[in-house]
Amino acid sequence: MKHKAAITLVKDKLPEKRYKHSKRVAETAIEMARIYGGDANKCFLAGILHDFSKYDELGEMYQYVTNYKLDPELLSFKAEVLHGPVAAVKMREEHGILDEEIYQAIMNHTTGRSHMSLNEKIIYVADYIEPKRSQPGVDQIRDIVFEEKNLDLAIYEITKANVLHLVSKDRAVYHRTVECLNYYNMVKE
Ligand SMILES: [Fe+2]
Ligand SMILES: [Fe+2]
Repeated sequence: MKHKAAITLVKDKLPEKRYKHSKRVAETAIEMARIYGGDANKCFLAGILHDFSKYDELGEMYQYVTNYKLDPELLSFKAEVLHGPVAAVKMREEHGILDEEIYQAIMNHTTGRSHMSLNEKIIYVADYIEPKRSQPGVDQIRDIVFEEKNLDLAIYEITKANVLHLVSKDRAVYHRTVECLNYYNMVKE
């Protein structure tokens, strides 16, 4: 898919605010691709498309999980987790984006996982640190990404913050997120 077509797709579907966030994620991802040797084209496409299903209806999301035989455990979660996997499937099945790395980057941006590819890591992190994000601790993560240049440590810190937040609210943590936390705890330096 050409960049212009991807932009139009997202612009027509998402509210302005979410479209602008998607653009910032794509731009941040390209900047990170330059630093880490990622693929700028894949980063742009995955970045602009990652939240495509953010506001899809929950019932429709469950249909996609079932119809495309995604992890059945996803059925215990809501849009917050599901919008990644559903967007990935829609891009592959309905919009002809067949690249495996883009698929995985969109799929796993909501949960993380162990053994992510470089461009997949970039999207996961860019979504968390794009310039308008202001959650506590985000500046430390930006330093880790742009000064220390330690992507695995950034993934660990982001996942840790997510897990701590979920646990503090007595929410369930998806198993791939736990695997992400443990894996990047092990490999970070
Ligand atoms: Fe998202
Ligand atoms: Fe996002």
